[in-house]
Amino acid sequence: MLTAENLFEKSLETAKFLQSKVNYTPEYAIVLGSGLGSLVEDIDVELEIPYKEIPNFPVSTVKGHKGSLIFGELNGKKIVAMNGRFHYYEGYNMKEVTFPERVFWQMGIRKLIVSNASGGVNTSFNIGDVMLINDHINFFPEHPLRGPNDERFGPRFVNMSEPYSKAMLKVVKDYAAEKNIKIQEGVYLGLQGPTFETLAEYTMVRNVGGDAVGMSTVPEVIVAKHMDMEVFGISVITDLGTAEFIEEVNHKEVLKAAKAAEPIVRELVAKLVEKY
Ligand code: HPA
Repeated sequence: MLTAENLFEKSLETAKFLQSKVNYTPEYAIVLGSGLGSLVEDIDVELEIPYKEIPNFPVSTVKGHKGSLIFGELNGKKIVAMNGRFHYYEGYNMKEVTFPERVFWQMGIRKLIVSNASGGVNTSFNIGDVMLINDHINFFPEHPLRGPNDERFGPRFVNMSEPYSKAMLKVVKDYAAEKNIKIQEGVYLGLQGPTFETLAEYTMVRNVGGDAVGMSTVPEVIVAKHMDMEVFGISVITDLGTAEFIEEVNHKEVLKAAKAAEPIVRELVAKLVEKY
């Protein structure tokens, strides 16, 4: 089991295993969110490793659960992509949810891109919009850094003044403006799920300052910032938490909307990797 005490050694062991399979350090790690897996098609794949073949990677008891790490090149840059992430609602603890970020850092990777699907609560958002994440609110019931701090990763008290890199945001915003691609920008609020929100909860998310709500990303970004990684986050608004739209919120609609916005996410992520 992964604990605060063995996390450094375990993640180092896993990093060494992966480094023995690929003889380079990727510049970027990219987490592919639900419905955004087709980003894989843009990658010149050099190696794909199923999670179950990676030492210390969390194993799922859920039947048919799949996922893999994909090493390759995207727009001329070496990357590793996580095709499938570990969600807290699946039963993993926070050390497991964020283990891949520890491993990426141990490999020498310092840039992280995270993507997800989320529900919009900002009334100027539409289904299918792409939102650049410029900040987050952590409403998960367990903190990924709880417990003894390992100073080799980072400090006990982590500065969170710039969780999402302003420089990376600028690159993507400039590109979108130049190409006339419509994007939104806002605050992602993370809840544990697996229920979608009630109307009262969506309203709360809005009232406390969220623009979108989802069940992932925040723990991963916190751990990345613990290790001083540079982070870019992008979200597809797949449903709207308003009285008018709440009846439509279900997994099928979420995946459908994520699919529709996928080409834009793919283009923005690929351009960021190329230019930054
Ligand atoms: N709420 C939480 N998570 C989500 C949503 C939502 O409305 N849409 C996609 N992921």
